[in-house]
Amino acid sequence: MDEDDVTLLLKSEVDVLRARKEGQRLARELGMTAIDSVKVATAVSEIASNALFHAREGSVNLRMLCSGNRRGLSVTVADRGPGIADLEQAMRDGFSTRNSLGIGLGAARRMMDDFEVNTEIGRGTTVTMAKWKD
Ligand SMILES: Nc1ncnc2c1ncn2[C@@H]1O[C@H](COP(=O)(O)OP(=O)(O)OP(=O)(O)O)[C@@H](O)[C@H]1O
Ligand SMILES: [Mg+2]
Repeated sequence: MDEDDVTLLLKSEVDVLRARKEGQRLARELGMTAIDSVKVATAVSEIASNALFHAREGSVNLRMLCSGNRRGLSVTVADRGPGIADLEQAMRDGFSTRNSLGIGLGAARRMMDDFEVNTEIGRGTTVTMAKWKD
């Protein structure tokens, strides 16, 4: 397996934890600060746990980015679940359809530099996010 491009399947909480750890490891390997690495880990964990909970399963791809002399980590979490009907509402802190805090999406967006959600009702959700090394 190419260690700079890792894909993990999400079928249980253990996989979410694995993805979290792998995100943190790659961020550290890129030379990110401990704080930024924890931000990456937390964002991966929130978005992966959304895929697991709201779509039952999904996948996480972690990839090193190199753009000029910028280095970073790209994270793509994809699922084939129900999709999100109102993304703007879902992004708002406090909105949850699972009677939870409803802060996962917002927190992940704030912890990463780039954050994009593609979602379609009945087809699934893909979150693509990245963090760049300072
Ligand atoms: N992958 C997904 N598939 C379908 N719906 C999703 C997905 N991710 C998020 N959502 C919707 O967006 C809402 C907000 O997500 P968010 O992660 O912010 O909060 P939450 O998962 O409800 O609670 P928590 O704060 O524990 O993460 C969810 O309640 C759900 O309705
Ligand atoms: Mg969540």
